[in-house]
Amino acid sequence: MKYYMPVRVYDEPECVLNHKEEIVSYGHKALIVTGRRSAQKCGALGDVVSALKQCGREYAVYNKIEENPSMETIMDASSFGRSEQVDFVIGIGGGSPLDAAKAIAFMIRRNSDNPDDLYDASLAADALDVIAVPTTCGTGSEVTGVSVLTVHAKNTKISIPHKIFPKLALIDGKYLSSAPHSMIVNTSIDAFAHMSESYLSKKADVYSQSAALTGLKLWSEVKDVLTQEREADGQDYAKLMRASTFGGIAIAQTGTSIPHALSYILTYDQKIPHGKAVGYFLGRFIGFADEADQKAILDAAGFESADELNTFLSRVFGEYEVKRETLQRAYDTVSANAVRMQGSRVEMDPEKLRVIVNLH
Ligand SMILES: [Fe+2]
Repeated sequence: MKYYMPVRVYDEPECVLNHKEEIVSYGHKALIVTGRRSAQKCGALGDVVSALKQCGREYAVYNKIEENPSMETIMDASSFGRSEQVDFVIGIGGGSPLDAAKAIAFMIRRNSDNPDDLYDASLAADALDVIAVPTTCGTGSEVTGVSVLTVHAKNTKISIPHKIFPKLALIDGKYLSSAPHSMIVNTSIDAFAHMSESYLSKKADVYSQSAALTGLKLWSEVKDVLTQEREADGQDYAKLMRASTFGGIAIAQTGTSIPHALSYILTYDQKIPHGKAVGYFLGRFIGFADEADQKAILDAAGFESADELNTFLSRVFGEYEVKRETLQRAYDTVSANAVRMQGSRVEMDPEKLRVIVNLH
């Protein structure tokens, strides 16, 4: 049994300003890494800048992280960070800025212009200290060492081999209150996928599974917000954010599984948002789990059957089309990956994978 989660987590209202002294203990000049707009709109960028200013610290902002950030963006941001002589990195946003912040912290510390370093597993995972401020409720990246980047040379998204855990995660549900409903839905389904894929992993143990089930229970209390049966309030946002963090704690131990592996191709080929792409496969994947595993996940998440979960997924996402050639490429990529095919307690074979992919 093993458990490793070296991130100090504060999960409370106003946690960025409450812990400003601790934020600035990580360095003298911060590189703030965000997307173009959402960190500003939700107030998180303003809070981080206020915290730094109140403590008399300098900062530089790199706000050009795109969805599913590319290696090229990482190189551009790290060269900017080096020119600004930053000595720690604060990622603000969803999975894209948080994953990018880790890779950027790695490249700045390496002081290297060689993008191949990002995927060179022989290098030590040294990086500048990273602080993560999530503003969506799906990634869990604030408590994992994972950084997934888009690799155009391979037409897909791939995790870098270096595990770079943030030092500090600052979690405040208020950053969700200005988010569009579609973003809440997409990222919440991503969190649900993290918890269930982790629960079903061969690497799962009582520690990772208790995180997964605790997150699923919190998630179940808010899922009627996803179907718009009621409006979300501050408590709901806090629970969604907390569920996402528990999902991150779970996958930090086990990794993800088949639905995630398949989803990367849908996102690359058709620009389908990550959570929605994972959700395309999730219900059918869980449907192949054995009875006890399926019951544990569905009970915790408040579903009576795998069919009810599938109905819920089609309700929140509506009908949408995935091209057959994209599904075929997803199938071909994952069926050729023995680690992926055998990583889960859901026994997998080519025929079952074909059903999960929806290639009939
Ligand atoms: Fe994910």
